[in-house]
Amino acid sequence: MATHTVLPISPDILGFAEVIAPQSEIDGKPKSGEPHLYQTDRMKRLSTPWSVCLTRAEQLADCRLGQGILLDPACGSGSQLFAYCSELERAGIGIELDADSAVLSAANGQIVADGGNSEWTSESFVLVGDGTDATAALSEIGMSGQAVAVMHVDPARPLDTQNHSLDEMEPPISILLNRWADHFVIGRRGPAIIIDLSPRLLETQQQEIEQLLLSYWPDSPITWEWVSTGRGRIDRLTIWFGTAADSATPARMLRLLSDGSVVSFAGRATDVKRATSAVPSTRDWLTIVDSALLASGLQGQWLREALPPESTRHWVRISGRRPMLLSSEPLHMEKSIVSAFVSSTGQIISRLKVEPKVENISPILVSANSAYLSRLTLRCKMEPSAQPKLQRKLDHGLKDYPRGKPGFLADVETNDGDAWFICKEP
Ligand SMILES: C[S@@+](CC[C@H](N)C(=O)[O-])C[C@H]1O[C@@H](n2cnc3c(N)ncnc32)[C@H](O)[C@@H]1O
Repeated sequence: MATHTVLPISPDILGFAEVIAPQSEIDGKPKSGEPHLYQTDRMKRLSTPWSVCLTRAEQLADCRLGQGILLDPACGSGSQLFAYCSELERAGIGIELDADSAVLSAANGQIVADGGNSEWTSESFVLVGDGTDATAALSEIGMSGQAVAVMHVDPARPLDTQNHSLDEMEPPISILLNRWADHFVIGRRGPAIIIDLSPRLLETQQQEIEQLLLSYWPDSPITWEWVSTGRGRIDRLTIWFGTAADSATPARMLRLLSDGSVVSFAGRATDVKRATSAVPSTRDWLTIVDSALLASGLQGQWLREALPPESTRHWVRISGRRPMLLSSEPLHMEKSIVSAFVSSTGQIISRLKVEPKVENISPILVSANSAYLSRLTLRCKMEPSAQPKLQRKLDHGLKDYPRGKPGFLADVETNDGDAWFICKEP
């Protein structure tokens, strides 16, 4: 009895997809140049943004892969798998437990092929069934042995828990590796495996994944990849293993910009320490950076691009959503790799002598007015209910100086307690 239903990638599948999730009912239009993929609401929540799929496909195309198919044993919408197929011009096999998602995924394969080269489609399939059942899935499409050149998997994770064990991911990675290990093409650096993980994965769990992979292929390199959309948190954490890894770059950071483009850089992760004794003074620069930058450990690499060599540099805050850099010189904001990781940067105009509170509005306005600020955005920790009230009062009080520059109010924890600084943006 067949364990998996085989869906070919062909124009015929589009009609079935249209019945399951009509394209006219999909919320929001794709960005220009992106394929209009089928998805249900559930798939939309789980799917990888197309620009991230493409960037990864370009990265994978640079790897020296062996002969064989591309595999995604939990393919969801298929967007990542078919981005690979299209970029590498290779056949791909997607496996998906949910039958509706599998049909939509096969339709998406056809849509991606329609937008570019399509020779890979004749040998590509989506299988409805269990992605851990390797031997059965391969035999369903007439394959056996070492057939898989690349496996990418993005397992479903429990949504409602902050932390979870690795085996709560569906399908579980340990089972996947166990069942597929004999079917990978093994190059000089091992197989090519890419696994999307929860961005909330603890460091011990990251090590657990590394150990699991290394227990099969002990000498293979690893590259960890962080993806951020600049919302003050990491959106994705991915391990690239073996032939898919870049042995010279154990860490890589991708920042997805709102126009759909991606800025990326890579290097060696280093530890970051908070400079407890650094005290900001007038004319210094305060910069709030994307917290994903520090999470990746690539901040040292980034600083070399961001600041001139003569500038001082101190991380005055390294945790939370607003890590902060203190420097004596302005950042090279003209470089996209620099600006992509900055949420606010400005030169310190003055130190507030009072705490930012509604009752202290007058001295705050005096300082902001004398700096010709057109706006002062609160970028400091405050009680959530007080923040909008104070912001409204500041906006009202500063509306008479429309030609000034925008600024922000930032807090820095010093050895003498919290201090607040008015900064003017460049
Ligand atoms: C996070 S989603 C994948 C999303 C995909 N990367 C995308 O861009 O659309 C994980 C998928 O794995 C599927 N899944 C879970 N367990 C599975 C299994 N044992 N075999 C095949 N698919 C499975 C789920 O139905 C879900 O669609």
